[in-house]
Amino acid sequence: MNSAPAGNDLGTGGCPVTGHRTPLYGPEFTANPARVYERLRANGQLAPVELAPGVPATLVVGYEAALEVLRNPGDFPRDGRRWAKTVPEDCPVLPVMSYRPNCLMTDGAEHARFRGVITDSVARVDPNKVRAHVEATADMLINQFAERGSADLLTEYAVALPLWVFTFLHGCPKDVGERMVTGMRDIVDMRDPERANERLTTALLELIALKRAEPAQDMASWMLAHPAQLTDEEILHQLFLMLGAGTEPEANLIANALRLLLSDHRFAGYVSGGSMRIEDALDEVLWTDPPVANLSASYPEREVLLAGRRLPADQPVVISYAAANTDPEFGDEHRSGNRAHLAWGAGPHACPVQGQARMVASIAIEKLLDRLPDLALGVPVEDLPWRESPFLRALAGLPVTFTPVRPVETAPETTQLPAVPAPARHAAPLPTAVRQRWKHAIIRWWRGQ
Ligand code: HEM
Repeated sequence: MNSAPAGNDLGTGGCPVTGHRTPLYGPEFTANPARVYERLRANGQLAPVELAPGVPATLVVGYEAALEVLRNPGDFPRDGRRWAKTVPEDCPVLPVMSYRPNCLMTDGAEHARFRGVITDSVARVDPNKVRAHVEATADMLINQFAERGSADLLTEYAVALPLWVFTFLHGCPKDVGERMVTGMRDIVDMRDPERANERLTTALLELIALKRAEPAQDMASWMLAHPAQLTDEEILHQLFLMLGAGTEPEANLIANALRLLLSDHRFAGYVSGGSMRIEDALDEVLWTDPPVANLSASYPEREVLLAGRRLPADQPVVISYAAANTDPEFGDEHRSGNRAHLAWGAGPHACPVQGQARMVASIAIEKLLDRLPDLALGVPVEDLPWRESPFLRALAGLPVTFTPVRPVETAPETTQLPAVPAPARHAAPLPTAVRQRWKHAIIRWWRGQ
């Protein structure tokens, strides 16, 4: 860690020279975050920002400083409960940032225990089954719009596909899966987040009750049976994390790569180029438009020095994966042909399912381009709408056109979501008192109490 000259700090006052904090919200940021990162980087590896009006944070925009933070949980711990007490209860970034007992927001032995349950359960998943399921699901989704000649690939494909994969892996009934994903999207979009949180929590609890009552060969059951013996509450939080981490970024990787493939002349003729072109597009997106743009908040417990700056205690330090990846200090020569980008994070919290997540995106795109070879954007690329989020680089729509094609036969199990019987047939409905207790507990965690 560097030593800092006295007064060169990034405390609540903002830029040491101007006092200004750059907003990570609003039309300018949403329209072109790369330009904002470029401006911020001109002043060094760290930038004073606002995550929402009146919510200060330090954004790490340099590659070296990002790695230093991610690899040093001692100085940059993940538990933000003290910080959460300093922001209003209705602070719009709380639903994403407030503490939950999951592997993303814990450190040390607690983190290792939670992470072990996830990685051991993921290791039991047969990759061939996942591959076959993704291919068949992709076919089934494409069938739904193939004869129409147009589609919104975001909602009808990129978002839908990871949902199906998640529900398949966890053996979810269809309605439970749908409530989970719409709840998670509303939380990330800050749309009535308290109700969305409640809807999502109820759905996850139903899944846990179902799998406790009747374990099967799926991730949720393996997590419940893991020797670490997580409580229902702890399982709830790991599932909550995997749903958030697993569906939103995956959808954004698929959509951002499709956008690049369909708009950049370097990828014209991708069909004849085959899957290498898709891998190139995925690499480029992971470098320049990573699905998780700014996240991984840590909360120093005391003042710390980083990249020559003094950071205050209890104020979020947020990693800008998007800015760090395009840091000119790191150099273009490092980027070409390698995967040293930070799109999967780094250090003890690095994404535990990078290979699987990439495989799903790759299959999804390959299938689509095979079935609809003359796919084209339905609007000029600069007119594609982006979602307003300080955390994700996410399109709000991806309209496309293509020559209509006939539906193909799909494997029978993909014509509906995994054939898990309705919860009522296996698990007793949760008693009202239990639902209420969970609901209040979740709202307390959400507020960081
Ligand atoms: C394209 C898709 C994905 C991207 C870009 C992505 C990116 C990331 C990043 C940047 C982190 C580090 C977060 C941090 O340090 O705070 C992370 C962590 C994590 N990811 Fe992924 N991820 C993706 C897919 C998935 C999927 C499909 C799952 C599981 C179903 C998943 C589960 C997790 C978990 C559990 C963590 C936390 C690990 C820990 O704290 O030890 N991710 N991911």
